Order: sequence, then C-alpha cells, then structure tokens
Amino acid sequence: ASLSEFVAKMPKAELHVHIEGTLTPSLTHKFAKRNSVPIPEAIRSLDTSSNEYAFHDLPSFLAVYYSAMSVLLTAADFCDLVWAYLQKAHSQNVLHTEMFFDPQAHTSRGVSLPTVIEGIRQGIVKAEQELGISTNLIMCFLRDLEPGFAMATLIDALPYKDWIIAVGLDSDERDNPPAKFANVFQRAKAEGFLVTCHCDVDQKDSIEHIRQVLVDIGVNRIDHGTNIVEDETLVDLVKLRGIGLTCCPISDSVVTKDFKGKEILQLLRSGVKVTVNSDDPAYFKGYMNENILRLADDAEVSRLELVQLQKNAFEISWISEQKREIFL
Ligand code: ADE
Ligand code: ZN
Repeated sequence: ASLSEFVAKMPKAELHVHIEGTLTPSLTHKFAKRNSVPIPEAIRSLDTSSNEYAFHDLPSFLAVYYSAMSVLLTAADFCDLVWAYLQKAHSQNVLHTEMFFDPQAHTSRGVSLPTVIEGIRQGIVKAEQELGISTNLIMCFLRDLEPGFAMATLIDALPYKDWIIAVGLDSDERDNPPAKFANVFQRAKAEGFLVTCHCDVDQKDSIEHIRQVLVDIGVNRIDHGTNIVEDETLVDLVKLRGIGLTCCPISDSVVTKDFKGKEILQLLRSGVKVTVNSDDPAYFKGYMNENILRLADDAEVSRLELVQLQKNAFEISWISEQKREIFL
C-alpha cells in the first residue's frame, strides 16, 4: 500500500484538538446566517479564492481564532461543530479523541457555560451512538486572562465534572507562565480532574515553562512541549513518569519557522511517549492523516514508527478501561 493508504487505514487516537479550532470558514458562514449575526471581520476579509485564514505566529493565529468564534451562540451551534469534527475524524479512522474547549472565550462574550458544555456534550453523545467514536472533554483556561477568572470557571464547571476528564492551559504563552495558575490546578486536582498544559514550541521561556508544568504543577501530559529535547534532565523526568507529549507538526510549523519533525522523532526514539495531533485543523489545514503525512514528509520515519506513535496515543489517552478493551 502507498504511505497515504497505510496512514489512512491505521486506527488512530487524537489527543490534541481544540473544538473551536475545527470551525471552518464554511461553518462560520452557516452559524452567522442561522444566528443572524455578521460574518466576523477576520473571515470577511479572507482571500476568497484560497478560502484560507491568514496568520504567521501564535498571537496572529489567536486573533483570527477568537474573532471567528463570535458566531457560536447556541447549544445547537456547539453540538453541530462537535458533530462535524467527529464525522471528519471518524472518516479518517480515528477511534478516540480528547477534545479541548475554551469556556472563557464564550462566557466572556455572554454565552453561558451550560450552553457551551451541554451543546458539546450533545455532539459527543450523538457521535458515540451513531459512529462509535469515543471522546473525552478537556476544559482549558486562557492563560492570558487572570487566574481568578480561571478559578471561577473551574467552580462553575463543577456540576459538569462527570463530562470533563481534565483541565488544560492554552492561549498566548508569552509572559503567562504555568505557575501563574498553580492554585487553579491544585484545586482542579483536588476535585479529581487530570491536568495537561500547553507548552507551545519555541516560546520565550519554553524550558522554564516545561519545568514548571512538570515540577510545580505536576501535569499528567504536556501539549506540544517539543523543546524538552534541549534539557536532558526533563526528558529523563517524563520518561520516568511515563508522561506523554501531544505534538502537532503542521501547527508547530506555522507557529515557529523551525519545523519540529526531527525533534519529535528524536524523542520517539529515546522512548518518550510522543504523539501526532492536529491542534486547530480548520486553521492549519490538516486533520490527523495530513499531520502524520507531513511528519513523514519532513523526517525519515518508518511505518513501524508511525504505528508506535498511535500506540503511544492510545496508551497515554484517558480512554475508559472498558473502551480500551474494545479498541485494543
Ligand atoms: N488555542 C488554540 N490553539 C492553540 C495553540 N496552538 N496554542 C495556544 N493556544 C491555543
Ligand atoms: Zn493546542
């Protein structure tokens, strides 16, 4: 089989996808129309011939990302968004996903937390019933906002604890270290949530942020985190603890000019549980298969290693034991 057929057929798990990052320009138009709201400026000014978003780094990406989501208003919008993404994932033979959402990006513009969570949950349940794809939900805090807002969001989400497996940290990393949220993560753990944090590639303080999430916060996983290759002690620590990394090749190649394929493979070969994921597929133009093929394009990776990446994903996933038995 060709490499693309091989990748397409491989059973996969996706552990790093922002549901708001699956909002395609065409879904944005659909929701704007149905809610009678204007098409967001960032979408209106798109080059209609290419139908692509335009950005060159993390802040410029985030500006478009937050602008576009203003069309998401009702539980039905969130349900339809989740359903569209899970259909796409299913079509690529993704059996299990762990999906981030950014509640503060919605509550801060007047959409209630129950609307967001109940809508997302409806989409997840529908996809589980109709497609057999399983999903866990991860609630992210926006690191460029105040920790008090994150704590209030955590407390407001407690009634939905059974639907949310973990909490995370995302948005603009510059001058927003994980330690800023130490109290929030401590409380989240006490409430029974697992913890993961974004340590985006090539940030101002990448290594210090990775150290903080491992040592000060005590995360169960790291999102991106590829810069860990620069610090042998931290690499040994994630190996010792069996902590996995959710890497996103296409996204990383947009956020940094330095493609991280070589580093991902170096980590894989040294026994770190790295995985490949799509991050914001509508924006970075690539779902699971495209990200795996991109890695294979840019780095010398064997088919056995591509299989190992998926074994890692199922292993470091938080899939229920019951489903783990069905899938593996
Ligand atoms: N929110 C959505 N995608 C993100 C990314 N790649 N980094 C930080 N925050 C994000
Ligand atoms: Zn991400």
